[in-house]
Amino acid sequence: MTFKRVLVAYGSKHGATAGIAEEIGRTLRDDGVEAVVLPAGDITDVSSYDGVVLGGALYAGRWNGQARRCVRRNAEQLSRRPVWLFSSGPVDSSAEQYDIPPVLGVARSMERLGAREHMTFGGAMTAKTPGLVARSLVRHGKGGDFRNSAQIQAWAHHIADDLEAGPETAR
Ligand SMILES: Cc1cc2nc3c(=O)[nH]c(=O)nc-3n(C[C@H](O)[C@H](O)[C@H](O)COP(=O)(O)O)c2cc1C
Repeated sequence: MTFKRVLVAYGSKHGATAGIAEEIGRTLRDDGVEAVVLPAGDITDVSSYDGVVLGGALYAGRWNGQARRCVRRNAEQLSRRPVWLFSSGPVDSSAEQYDIPPVLGVARSMERLGAREHMTFGGAMTAKTPGLVARSLVRHGKGGDFRNSAQIQAWAHHIADDLEAGPETAR
């Protein structure tokens, strides 16, 4: 088996997306991939990675700003290697029930980078989530943790398989 090094980067405001990224990183490592998990805001160079998984939280129909800027900053290098994007996420079970397409900005990033795939995972907004809006929504019964470990792990296994298969399965 070829040894692959993958970056899992995340743009997260309150930690839910970071948790998904950590789960993806753990699963990739279980599959023998060297996975490094870092905040998207810290990423200035991806040239040492064989592939990149980049995720962002959704706020008012837009991807987290750190994830967006990570794409802009690293676009050239990202477009030369396999990239997978993910979003988090609906605070209900919709992401477990059907494929939710990327929001427009993320769809454009996919095109710009030639990303292999996008996945929307359920998100989390709980009593611990800071912010007036979140607190009010949770108080009105609109919160919960809808991150599904089995779904996240299945996607990460699929990425590990895809990496292992090599460039012939690329776009
Ligand atoms: C003010 C606000 C706006 C949100 N807008 C969206 C949205 O447009 N689409 C969506 O799927 N989820 C939306 N969410 C849910 C968040 O994306 C979800 O809680 C996410 O998992 C948060 O990730 P983070 O903790 O990494 O920041 C919103 C949450 C808040 C508090």
